[in-house]
Amino acid sequence: MPPTCDIGMIGLAVMGENLALNMESHGYTVAVFNRTTEKVDELLAGRGKGKKFVGCHTVQQLVDALVKPRKVMMLIKAGPAVDQVIEELLPLLSPGDVIIDGGNSYYTDTERRTTEVEAKGLLYVGTGVSGGEEGALKGPSLMPGGSPAAWPLIKPIFQAIAAQVGPNHDIPCCDWVGPRGAGHYVKMVHNGIEYGDMQLICEAYLMLKEALGMSNAELYDVFDQWNRGELDSYLIEITRDIFSVKDPETSNDLVDMVLDEAGSKGTGKWMSQLALDLGVPSTLVTEAVYARYLSADKEARVRASGILPGPANAKFTGDKKAFTESIRHALYASKICSYAQGFVQLRAAADQHKWPLDYGRNAQLWRGGCIIRAKFLDRIKEAFDRNPQLENLLFDPFFTDAVKGGQDAWRDVVATASNLGLPVPAFGAALAYYDGYRRARLPANLLQSQRDYFGAHTYKRIDRPGVFHTDWLSLRKPPK
Ligand code: 6PG
Repeated sequence: MPPTCDIGMIGLAVMGENLALNMESHGYTVAVFNRTTEKVDELLAGRGKGKKFVGCHTVQQLVDALVKPRKVMMLIKAGPAVDQVIEELLPLLSPGDVIIDGGNSYYTDTERRTTEVEAKGLLYVGTGVSGGEEGALKGPSLMPGGSPAAWPLIKPIFQAIAAQVGPNHDIPCCDWVGPRGAGHYVKMVHNGIEYGDMQLICEAYLMLKEALGMSNAELYDVFDQWNRGELDSYLIEITRDIFSVKDPETSNDLVDMVLDEAGSKGTGKWMSQLALDLGVPSTLVTEAVYARYLSADKEARVRASGILPGPANAKFTGDKKAFTESIRHALYASKICSYAQGFVQLRAAADQHKWPLDYGRNAQLWRGGCIIRAKFLDRIKEAFDRNPQLENLLFDPFFTDAVKGGQDAWRDVVATASNLGLPVPAFGAALAYYDGYRRARLPANLLQSQRDYFGAHTYKRIDRPGVFHTDWLSLRKPPK
């Protein structure tokens, strides 16, 4: 049989199957393969019935079904399985064919795989895919990077299946991000920002619920209201919806039946680790990761709750309506800091790896389809359009004003949380970052003095250039 397929999909779990269906719905013929071959048959007999799919029971069959240059996309678990499938594909493919990894792979793996696959004369793409099940089916955000020569080959399919934004719904949330691991790095930062957004929303929830005593019905209304303003986003929308869902088993509100132990798969941790390596303060994602870890220590927390005292007075006594508005300000201002940090980290990574990232277009890739999609990303795009060299979003007049407008409320929320003994680590980290960033002078002069005192680590002076060391011990005031 002559090859008829435009692209092949390996891995038919939720994301792979939905992406394949999305491609097919845009007129492409898709060859599909899954290690457990029953999945292939199920797709062809079920959701894919009568559609332009070619079911394959071996990788060889999949390769044979593809028109050249062949494009094979993998949606499989990140890690060694990706290397195994690449090993299997390499002898079956020809120079100029493209292997695409759509999982959440660690970016250095993608850097290595691009080099290895290119050395065999083939092309490699590591692409971020965001949007969950529904996004994959109806229009995800796609962040491809890898061999630049692969882009013209995959561009028509990728841009057709991606979410479309803009007034005419014709700007695809998919564009070439950069060479080697750039696409997966950008996806990792997306996920880190996702962690930050989710943690900030959870802290707002904690304050509304514990400090103001709101019911789930009231919470629904608050998030519904917030979703009509500058916080308008997918995560605020689904948070609102969550408060309306009843547990089919008990008829209680389902959110109250869910155990408060957060899981994670590692992309937030990676962003945080890489921020430390780069020497940039991505404190929001880091606090969000730690908050998940602390939540997972449920048994110890339950014990500690009976031992460790909190403040004597843990009741909020102010104006409920006004404080709800303050929480909204705190959430928005903290979110701005979180995105500012994410873009600072992206720029540092791009400098380190010589990736020519376009930050405005990057914000636009996240405008639709993905988990962090939000109206707010239009403002970020505009900020980078105004100044492509923008060092920190907080320097853009729109964001400077936005934080200025909400900062008294933000401070009030962090102070009140502290007084009531309610943990808001991400609100607090964001405020500490903001206050640290806006200070011309920090106490690091004392820190450098300490380092030089005990370890002769040297210091710089404010009045002249150079590196100095002082024998602090001999000059100190003798102790009494
Ligand atoms: C997406 C999501 C997706 C995944 C997260 C979940 O963009 O569609 O980010 O990739 O749901 O990685 O991560 P955790 O399990 O670590 O929360």
